[in-house]
Amino acid sequence: MKRLLADAELEKLSSSIALHMGLSFPSTKWKSLEQAFCTAAMVMGFKSQLECVGWFMSAPPSQELFESMACYLTIGETYFLREACSFEALEQQIIPEIIRKRHGKDQCLRIWSSGCATGEEPYSIAIVLYRMRAVLCDWDISILATDINPHALRKATAGIYTHWSFRNTPTGFKENYFTETEAGHFELLPAIKEMVTFSSFNLAEECYPSPNSIDIIFCRNVLMYFAPQLIKKVVAQYHHCLLDGGWLFVSSCETSSPTFPGFEPINFPDAILYQKVSYRVLAKPKSTRYIQTTHSSPPPPPPVQAAPAPSLLWHQSRHAEISDYQKALTLYEHGAYRDASDMLVVLLDLDKENTEALTLQCRIYANEGRLVEALEMSELALTADKLSSELHYLRAVILLEQGMNDEASAALKKALYLDQDLVMAHFTLANLEQRKGKVKESQRHFNAALSLLGRYRREDVIPESGGIIAGKLTEIIRTTTAWSL
Ligand SMILES: C[S@@+](CC[C@H](N)C(=O)[O-])C[C@H]1O[C@@H](n2cnc3c(N)ncnc32)[C@H](O)[C@@H]1O
Repeated sequence: MKRLLADAELEKLSSSIALHMGLSFPSTKWKSLEQAFCTAAMVMGFKSQLECVGWFMSAPPSQELFESMACYLTIGETYFLREACSFEALEQQIIPEIIRKRHGKDQCLRIWSSGCATGEEPYSIAIVLYRMRAVLCDWDISILATDINPHALRKATAGIYTHWSFRNTPTGFKENYFTETEAGHFELLPAIKEMVTFSSFNLAEECYPSPNSIDIIFCRNVLMYFAPQLIKKVVAQYHHCLLDGGWLFVSSCETSSPTFPGFEPINFPDAILYQKVSYRVLAKPKSTRYIQTTHSSPPPPPPVQAAPAPSLLWHQSRHAEISDYQKALTLYEHGAYRDASDMLVVLLDLDKENTEALTLQCRIYANEGRLVEALEMSELALTADKLSSELHYLRAVILLEQGMNDEASAALKKALYLDQDLVMAHFTLANLEQRKGKVKESQRHFNAALSLLGRYRREDVIPESGGIIAGKLTEIIRTTTAWSL
């Protein structure tokens, strides 16, 4: 996509978004930012992206304004039991500890899922509590779930999900807590659905829930998209809202102690959670153990021992957490190029030489027809990994799209130098040589491709072919070579 906004305008636009919505759009993400306004302009009926930006910048800042742009600017990726270790810690350690401490006195439990997207996170919390209902029956429980995106909240309130939301859940999860209302659509049991209250809330706002009122806050995969100054503010607000000893859940990629002043990182199996340390305790000389330091007199209870009944564990999903790269890949495979691309920008911010991420970003640009950016990305990827035949091939395809046949030919030869068995490189080079009238060379590469295809079953999809099966490619080559004789 051609850049329409000048750097100065993008600078102003991203500062305004950071201030009012918290979201960070550094210059590396300006292309996504422009794309978001381009989509918004189309959907909202503006004549152009520029008109849409003008409207956003000139309208008086209001909640409605930010909500209307939220679905274009935010990433709503989520699924049930995401980072299952968090829910194991909740079920086995955190809730049992709260029950033990408050038993018979103040039996209430307040949980806030902030940045809840389409509801899979707060409903996963509700399912945990529902499973523990035998011990929580006399408790006053509330789960508040908030987000800035009104579309996501509408979907969350409906509580109906497709298979995709269950991609990391153990066997029986869907069957136990959902009913299939129509083919492939699963509705959460009403008794669990009504445990959660959804509400719109912008975390960049000043007006947070009352101080010392919440036991547990989930804020996972939200802060990672925020500008640093807002992260600080939000974390301070969470500290204020939590009770002493209250817990903050963030995602594994957001754990970094300096980000959470006033909280102590506590290790759980496969997870780090943050526990609020009261300022009173912080003022004391530094001490080490968490339970002892976070609660003053009366003497602290001993650390909660693990293990309610083993049946409560989410064993199957514990090690199945997928990496951010895999998430981006899945989004890419489902055609959600913008979301995949946004995720890759974050990964590349962390590691500029992440070859997998560079390669996938290159594929996305190529598929979107952004050939100049695709070519640039292929160069970056090749700087990080010169020996990747896949990358040389990808670069050749982009060069061909741009009509740069000689350069494409050179890239294909490099790919084949690194991997003689790359069927598509032989096939593409054979076609190129044929166009140049180099019959012998062309035939040599067609023959090599045919011989390699013999190793595949008819129905096997050929790598790098965009989905062509071996049988079909064999047929194409036979027809092409028969005509050229
Ligand atoms: C990637 S999702 C995370 C969903 C869930 N917490 C999880 O980990 O699966 C991030 C969510 O944060 C929300 N969000 C982004 N900026 C926000 C803001 N300023 N206030 C409230 N929610 C925000 C987005 O709308 C999106 O639904």
